[in-house]
Amino acid sequence: MNEINLDLIDTTGEPPVTEPERQYYYMAKCREIISEKIREKQRPLYCQTRTFGCQMNAKDSEKLTGILKQIGYTEITQEDTIEPDFILYNTCTVRENANLKVYGHLGYLKKQKQRHPDMLIALCGCMMQEETVVEKIKKSYPFVDLIFGTYNIYQLAELIYERLTTKKNVIEILQASKDIVEELPIERKFSFKSGVNIMFGCDNYCSYCIVPYVRGRERSRKPEDIIKEIKKLVADGVVEIMLLGQNVNSYGKNLEQPVSFARLLEMVEEIDGLERIRFMTSHPKDLSEELIAVMKKSKKICRHLHLPLQSGSSHILKTMNRHYDKEKYIALAEKIRREIPDVSLTTDIIVGFPGETEEDFLDTLDVVKRIRYDSAYTFIYSKRTGTPAARMANQVPEEVVKDRFNRLLKEVQTISAEQTMKNVGKTFEVLVEDINEHDSSLVTGRMSNNSTVHFKGNQSLIGKIVNVRLDEAKGFYYMGTMEEE
Ligand code: SAH
Ligand code: SF4
Ligand code: F3S
Repeated sequence: MNEINLDLIDTTGEPPVTEPERQYYYMAKCREIISEKIREKQRPLYCQTRTFGCQMNAKDSEKLTGILKQIGYTEITQEDTIEPDFILYNTCTVRENANLKVYGHLGYLKKQKQRHPDMLIALCGCMMQEETVVEKIKKSYPFVDLIFGTYNIYQLAELIYERLTTKKNVIEILQASKDIVEELPIERKFSFKSGVNIMFGCDNYCSYCIVPYVRGRERSRKPEDIIKEIKKLVADGVVEIMLLGQNVNSYGKNLEQPVSFARLLEMVEEIDGLERIRFMTSHPKDLSEELIAVMKKSKKICRHLHLPLQSGSSHILKTMNRHYDKEKYIALAEKIRREIPDVSLTTDIIVGFPGETEEDFLDTLDVVKRIRYDSAYTFIYSKRTGTPAARMANQVPEEVVKDRFNRLLKEVQTISAEQTMKNVGKTFEVLVEDINEHDSSLVTGRMSNNSTVHFKGNQSLIGKIVNVRLDEAKGFYYMGTMEEE
């Protein structure tokens, strides 16, 4: 991306009205103030960003951190013992638990701010798009300095500038945005892999889900912008990318010149130097034959498909507004397994959706047993205010839900362990991601099918793709041995 050099910006004039120029102007303005503070304190100013949500939320955090670093902050992580001067929580509201976590942390931040009154606290992300949340924060957590939503993350510098110059708390939540502001700075968490947004928002309105309300209408980025970003990432050492969208299968439908997701994948595949392509998430209703064909012949698309089931009951799927039924889902999953035999299939399942009977639940278990997911995320239904499901009368009692949840989890784990066993003794290409958290003589890598494997190695392997023999399956992961070239 053609990032603008802040040193070349004239900060004496009026702010530009076009983006991203306006934000670069505010970054330069903020940097002047931050440098002054650094001189006064004679130490760096530290920032910390925390992500509470999904991969898209994490990608937003990288953009926000990019801006914070441009304006002069030094990034620290959660593990650092230094107290940050700027703390940013990028929130999620997909389930009640996600919200509770943020409130818990805010209680703790109150004390931190008493010790360190100069510290700036900012909240952004999906939770902030809910009016009741913002009201609650204003009332119960008035020490929060900056609140903004999901549509104006690109404005971080402008908002910080306003906070620093007016000394008033700044709350700026847009209700929608059609524009996609390109070419802002970004601070990547990993040097060798990166998420790439291909679309924003969601138009599917699954009846339990709050995402369409907090992320707005579906907007696709132009293929040329996506390709340009990926080429730049590859030039910068990235070998694996994950294309991100709430429903990547409907990518490109609303562009002036429509492009299918499968076609986009073909374009991305052509980028020299890029080794692996992942994507998240695929809605079963829009998964095309074309996509299966492209995946099948691809050398770079990873052998992993996350295909959220949500429920195995056709009746529940209908009230969930998922636009497929049990039979259609099974037929699709079986076709994928047939066409791409080494693919790993993973899923999301919700237990306890309003009106779910024992029979409906048995349908879910039945699909799980038939498809034999390599792994599955299981969730207890969480009532989200404003969604149609929250108004449904027949909510399922908690004890019933818990019992079903435990039964499902047991089934999912048993199958997943059996699936993992199948690959023991075989050798796979593995992208080394990190030093093992518990044993520093080991490294952790990821296979094309998204399984992780731990094996002897050191720092110099990080970011490299190596061959690893899987010696032992440990439920969700493997222990292995690297093979010499
Ligand atoms: N766009 C993705 C999902 C994003 S949210 C898709 O459709 O596949 C990730 C997962 O959270 C969903 O797949 C769903 O299983 C779960 N989820 C969403 N809303 C929920 C709710 N109200 N209660 C419980 N789980 C929920
Ligand atoms: Fe939510 Fe459904 Fe959109 Fe996924 S596709 S984000 S579950 S509304
Ligand atoms: Fe959560 Fe928002 Fe993602 S609600 S799951 S962070 S889109």
